[in-house]
Amino acid sequence: MLKKQRIMSLKKHLYCLYLVVFAALSWAGCTSPETTAMPTLKDAYAGKFRIGTAMNTDQITGTDAASVAVIKEHFNSIVAENCMKSEILQPREGKFDFTLSDQFVEFGTANQQFIVGHTLVWHSQTPSWFFVGEDGRDVSREELIARMKHHITTVVGRYKGKVHAWDVVNEAFEDDGSYRKTKFFTIIGKEYIPLAFEFARTADPNAELYYNDYSMYHEGKRKAVIRLIEEMKSAGLRIDAVGMHGHYTLAYPSLNSFAQSIQQLGAAGVQVMVTELDISVIPSPYEMQGAEISTRFSYTPEKDPYTEGIPDSIAKLQTDRYKDFFKVCLQHQDVVSRITVWGVNDLQSWRNDWPIKGRTDYPLLFDRKNQPKPVMEELVRLASQYTVNPG
Ligand code: XIL
Repeated sequence: MLKKQRIMSLKKHLYCLYLVVFAALSWAGCTSPETTAMPTLKDAYAGKFRIGTAMNTDQITGTDAASVAVIKEHFNSIVAENCMKSEILQPREGKFDFTLSDQFVEFGTANQQFIVGHTLVWHSQTPSWFFVGEDGRDVSREELIARMKHHITTVVGRYKGKVHAWDVVNEAFEDDGSYRKTKFFTIIGKEYIPLAFEFARTADPNAELYYNDYSMYHEGKRKAVIRLIEEMKSAGLRIDAVGMHGHYTLAYPSLNSFAQSIQQLGAAGVQVMVTELDISVIPSPYEMQGAEISTRFSYTPEKDPYTEGIPDSIAKLQTDRYKDFFKVCLQHQDVVSRITVWGVNDLQSWRNDWPIKGRTDYPLLFDRKNQPKPVMEELVRLASQYTVNPG
């Protein structure tokens, strides 16, 4: 009997040893692919929040098959990087071109992805005819409202029941919280924002509607956005979430301010999303660090230090940054509904050309050959440390 007990105990110890060794090998990635196949990013975060990416023209048309494979494997939400902006959808008044946007929506539908339309009202990438009358002068308030209504109604109506959510208004505030003096604002007044949301809701009552902006860590801007949410809610208007772009660097923004933005926006009664995440590793030429696309600086070689690749130390800093942002989102799963990265691989990122044209940056999760960076495995592992929030 005693001998049997000893054998049992030995067996138990051996089994435990096996488990420890197996776990260690898996951790180090030394076992066969069948036993350790890494979950995809979307699977790792399933039930926590959606994982999205922006799609460019080559991906939408299928020319870039390698990136398309990555999109299908790792992302359960997509947003159009450019093809749903008004300069593409309505380059001339009344002449809509849905060629690319139709393909984009078909792709998302075929792959059961959560499709986000970006963006209905924005001061950038809007064709100039939008604001100008036949006499070459600014159109009247009534005319601009009518044009905005026609654009929103046509676009949202076309994709009713297919596009699940819209970035209705993009970047309406300055960092100090004042209204950005766009043509929409100067001609219509601040009511252009609730009007745009209302036109979108009427065109598709079931679509989620978002306000999207950068630098939400500036207290002034954050307060202005919270005020907007409160005003819209008390007027009975629909606003489901606020998107924080997330065009970050290794230094900006601080994690505390990132977390604070999520908490305060969430407390205002909306979901919060990181909608355009990319983390630049090359020198930032300016202090303010927003994402105004017209901001431009001239190229100098010292501002482009990693043309041949990034040092391991920098790659590690970026991995840690990504993990830190994801960790904060995991800690706020109750309000965070999505993280979307702004593109698939480093080669395609707009950060190579903004705010300085022609640099070599490494801001995304996949390298120039579409290989997952080490950060991918770290993000998957990180997700497993957090249980799904029952709420
Ligand atoms: C960028 C695209 O990535 C570029 O290809 C384009 O040339 C300019 O716009 N904020 C936004 C996005 O809301 O639409 C912008 O996308 C990046 C900043």
